[in-house]
Amino acid sequence: MSETLENLSSETRQFPPPADLAAAANVTAEAYQEAADDRLAYWERQAERLSWTKPWDQVLDWSNPPFAKWFVGGELNVAYNCVDRHVEAGNGDRVAIHWEGEPGDTRTVTYAELLISVSQAANTLTELGVVAGDRVAIYLPMIPEAAVAMLACARIGATHSVVFGGFSVEALSTRINDADAKVVITADGGYRRGKPSALKPTVDEAVARCASIEHVLVVRRTGQEVAWTDKDKWWHETVEQASPEHKAQPFEAEHPLFILYTSGTTGNPKGILHTTGGYLTQASYTHNAVFDLKPETDVYWCTADIGWVTGHSYIVYGPLSNGATQVMYEGTPDTPDRGRFWQIVDKYKVSILYTAPTLIRTMMKWGDDIPAKYDLSSLRVLGSVGEPINPEAWMWYREHVGRERTPIVDTWWQTETGAVMISPLPGVTAAKPGSAMTALPGISADVVDDQAESVPNGGGGFLVLTEPWPSMLRTIWRDDKRFIDTYWSRFGAGAGNGDKWVYFAGDGAKKDEDGALWLLGRVDDVMLISGHNISTTEVESALVSHPAVAEAAVVGATDPTTGQAIVAFTIPRGNVVTEGEAGQELIKELRNHVAKTLGPIAKPRQIMLVTELPKTRSGKIMRRLLRDVAENRSLGDVTTLQDSAVMDLISSGMNSAKSED
Ligand code: WT7
Repeated sequence: MSETLENLSSETRQFPPPADLAAAANVTAEAYQEAADDRLAYWERQAERLSWTKPWDQVLDWSNPPFAKWFVGGELNVAYNCVDRHVEAGNGDRVAIHWEGEPGDTRTVTYAELLISVSQAANTLTELGVVAGDRVAIYLPMIPEAAVAMLACARIGATHSVVFGGFSVEALSTRINDADAKVVITADGGYRRGKPSALKPTVDEAVARCASIEHVLVVRRTGQEVAWTDKDKWWHETVEQASPEHKAQPFEAEHPLFILYTSGTTGNPKGILHTTGGYLTQASYTHNAVFDLKPETDVYWCTADIGWVTGHSYIVYGPLSNGATQVMYEGTPDTPDRGRFWQIVDKYKVSILYTAPTLIRTMMKWGDDIPAKYDLSSLRVLGSVGEPINPEAWMWYREHVGRERTPIVDTWWQTETGAVMISPLPGVTAAKPGSAMTALPGISADVVDDQAESVPNGGGGFLVLTEPWPSMLRTIWRDDKRFIDTYWSRFGAGAGNGDKWVYFAGDGAKKDEDGALWLLGRVDDVMLISGHNISTTEVESALVSHPAVAEAAVVGATDPTTGQAIVAFTIPRGNVVTEGEAGQELIKELRNHVAKTLGPIAKPRQIMLVTELPKTRSGKIMRRLLRDVAENRSLGDVTTLQDSAVMDLISSGMNSAKSED
């Protein structure tokens, strides 16, 4: 990207908060002013949400940037804050987790029961020789033991490294070795798409490559047969037999809490390191503020997997530190049928739902009639995370899930930021469909050009964070240099420009006429068309704004005349006819629709109608792979619909990408 990003789309729709929600909101408009007046004092007040055994001496030590220390001198125990204190406050009988297995089996875990399980697991890990500072790998399906395992590590000061249960031997063993984990906690398997899916064989193969592993703790979930080695121990023969008494010891605010690997665009996965006091402060604060959680009455459900940061911050640490009652679901959204999510919302009377644009667009493709069959009247706040949400997908979410009543919070953040950074507040913000709106109180974000100058309203460029925040990553595990190079060397002091340290993690964004923030995707994906920097997100959103389109992915392919040209892969909505002439007509119409919506510069050279798009395991579109598809084939001006050769290329790429992230 050479200068700034084009700002092509405009949005006039805006939805103020419902009056009753605004009147009772956890956070009101004053918070922005309070935080602006004294940012550090504001964060101190948020830290007071937690229970500390020793108060901090200093809120922030930023004397050695970009290495931050928050709440210096303070001590606390994360598991105590997520579990014990709720029981001590008399809420032991409150449900912490309504667990729904994919086959329909259920478990209900109260805070009192969670305390027993976490204490037992902490005692078992201690017996196995795990001490504070050791690393423990967790490779589990979405079962309550995943949360228990994480909290047990936190309780004894061990650093957990959760690895997504869909990852391969290669991915798992690389992560175990990078962290030198002593123990891995896994299960025989979990249920996916209606049948047991094994995990233990992957662990067995990985452990054979990992000298550091001393013990493997195995939860019995599916009952499928497993091979057994002398490192293996059943969870039910150890944890469930252990003493339920365990006294949590405090740890320093900067004690490492977890490592979470993120693949990024190049090279080995990066072990993103998060610590204790600042992380928990921001996870807890944002979960309360952004979802307006009322722990006594709300039923909260985050559909992410525990293997991603969303699962860490918004299934485990945020909700549990706030004493929430939540739903945890093991399986896929289409098992036994495509109504499963809505059936769960209906069954548990879910009031706050947090999911990803990829799922929302999939539901759009499946059809409006599916959510319409269920009672979704319990919902009062909807959230989105992981990718830009196209305005039309936002509108669909509002209309067909929120039934025109609920605010939507589009939350921007990253594994690296640890917790939400940019989002509407549901009781304050009049949200615009597709915009993450503004930085939360206490957070400083800006959009800058390549000279690090703030762009004016209406301008686009690089999204940066201009002040440290409590849940920021502290470093990349054992690689301080890569930490500095990756995040701090593009702008500001780290780039030799002034003395202010500026964080940049790769996203493009724009400010609209009112200064609201719009995320425009990764800057690596930006297309350079005849000298204009055009974001993939804007073209994708223009395509999705056509009623025939459910989902679109756009890439810039090399072009002899324009440098790059726009190639779009488009999934039609369920009811759209795409055979023969109709398909050709639709393609023509879509190209014109984009030109009309964004201007002729953004008109795609080619549009391909496809049935699926290649995605990472966390649901992000793999544009790099589509670029290969677009460039490696000499396609005509307009490619025929559902071109089977294109689909073959896409799905062969999907298969080869399966083992990676
Ligand atoms: C990247 C971080 C944050 C938890 C899940 C993903 C993209 C995330 C949004 C949003 C537009 C978003 C960004 C970001 N992203 N949320 N609301 N609007 N883009 O965590 O895997 O670390 O990915 O996801 O590109 O940098 P992650």
